[in-house]
Parts: sequence; structure tokens; C-alpha cells
Amino acid sequence: MNYTNIHVTKEAGYAIVQLNRPDVLNAINIALMQELVEALENLDKDNDVRCIILTGNEKAFAAGADIKEMADASAVDMLIRDQFARWDKIRRIKKPLIAAVSGFALGGGCELMMTCDIVIASESAKIGQPEINIGVMPGAGGTQRLTRAVGKAKAMEVVLTGKMITAAEALQWGLINKIVPVEYYLQDAKDLAKEIASKPPVAVRLAKEAVLKSFDTTIEGGLEFERKNFYLLFASEDQKEGMKAFVEKRKADWKGK
Ligand code: CAA
Repeated sequence: MNYTNIHVTKEAGYAIVQLNRPDVLNAINIALMQELVEALENLDKDNDVRCIILTGNEKAFAAGADIKEMADASAVDMLIRDQFARWDKIRRIKKPLIAAVSGFALGGGCELMMTCDIVIASESAKIGQPEINIGVMPGAGGTQRLTRAVGKAKAMEVVLTGKMITAAEALQWGLINKIVPVEYYLQDAKDLAKEIASKPPVAVRLAKEAVLKSFDTTIEGGLEFERKNFYLLFASEDQKEGMKAFVEKRKADWKGK
């Protein structure tokens, strides 16, 4: 597929989706979001891809939803466009999503980052929900995902002041997984993608699903969901192979079935 607002590249076992509106710090307009969702859904169906990296450039992961595109919209325009509903489709991507973040991850950029499963950030990452400074509030998950990730007090501070936090603060708060020097953040994400791609894909899929389930269920419902996913894996060839390989003291040969 040829895209204008993103670049998609495939490597052995994983894919990289790079936001590509550098002149506007990868501001997320409707066209970019359409392409992004389409690309992610296609990669989700692609058997050669077992993990997806979402990235921007050194200066910006994404500086938020495109303010110029929204500025003159009425509430009814926004309701009819319902552009943030498309973001839910990213939440439904079954393969692991790694965000490789450098520079600004603001507003919708921060929300996109938080929709990913693992975040590798460069030392220069600046993360925040600055919508309050332009007369609005987070609209694509910022008040919900940030609060779940860092707790009410810190989420309130970020959302109500619009301040940017550093990569070091984000790491300390548990919002990201790792900080690496700017030259290595993408390479680090690639190494992680390779590692995840080497794991049995059906187990990876059900494990991701079970972790995400913890966000919208009771502990009891979540434990039951987890248990059933665990039992379900005993229908996979990879479970038989993985356990046999352990007993025979050899490396497992995953079939992805
Ligand atoms: N939308 C549209 N254009 C944007 C943009 C955005 N979110 N962020 C940056 N740009 C554009 C700028 O307008 C500028 O374009 P021009 O050269 O044509 O003027 C270009 O990107 C470079 O930006 P700056 O000159 O401002 O760069 P800077 O280094 O001085 O500042 C910044 C960087 C602090 C990130 C600043 O650009 C900024 O504050 N951006 C807006 C951040 C923001 O408010 N994000 C939230 C958007 S609303 C949202 O995301 C809602 C939601 O919940 C989904």
C-alpha cells in the first residue's frame, strides 16, 4: 500500500509504522488516522508480522491531534466526524504494539503512545496532555488511560496544567518501559520487536488480550478470562511443541498454530 501520511516497512517478523508529517510535528489529522488504522488492521492480518512498532521521528512522536483541522469545527461537525472513534480500532489490534517515542508525545500523541502496549522512549521525550492550554481537554483516552497508568493525582496534574513531563518522570511514574539515548530508541524497539516475534504468536495474542482485559473487568472476571485463555492454549500445536521442547531440552520450533 502507498500511504502519504505514514511509512510502513516490514522487517523479518515485525513491521514499523512511522508517522510522516514532520513539518507539523506529526500532528494527527483525519487522513493520517485513516491511513494508520488501515495499515495497522492490514498488518494485524499479515501472518509474517508478529509485532508492530509505531514511531515518529527524533523531534516528535506526535504533537497531538491537528489543531488547524479542528479549530473552526462546530460541536456538530465534531460529532459527525466522530474522528476519535477511529482510535478505538487501534485498541482492538491483536498483535503487540510497541511505541518508539522521541521528542514530543503530546495530546493525541500521548494518547496514541498510551494505546500501545510497551513504550521505549528516547531521553528527549516530552510527554503531556496540553489540551487545556487550547481551551479543550483530552478527547482520545487521555483522562482514562493516563489515570489508570499513573494514578489520579499525577493524571490530574498533567491534564489540568497541561505541563510536559520528561522521559525520566514518565519512567518513574510507570508510564513508559525504558529510556535510551536518542540514537538507539528505534533500535531498542526493533530488538524488543524481534524478541516478541520469536515467541509463539497464539500465546502472545491471548496473553496481550488477558492483560488488556484487566482494564475493564473485575479481578474475578479477569482471572476467569485469564484461566480460560490459558486452557485454550492447550488446543494449540505450539503448547505441545513448547512443553515437549522443554522436556527434551531443545529449542522450540513454533508453528504459530
Ligand atoms: N496541530 C497542528 N499543527 C501543529 C501541532 C498540532 N497539534 N503541533 C505543532 N504543529 C505545527 C505548528 O503549527 C508549526 O507549523 P508551522 O511551521 O506551519 O507554523 C509546526 O508544527 C512546528 O511547531 P512549532 O513551531 O510550534 O514548534 P515548537 O518547537 O516551537 O513547539 C510544541 C513545539 C510545543 C509541540 C508546539 O508545537 C505545540 O504546543 N503544539 C501543540 C500541542 C498541543 O496542544 N497538542 C494537543 C492537540 S489537541 C489533541 O490532541 C486532542 C486530543 O485529545 C486527541
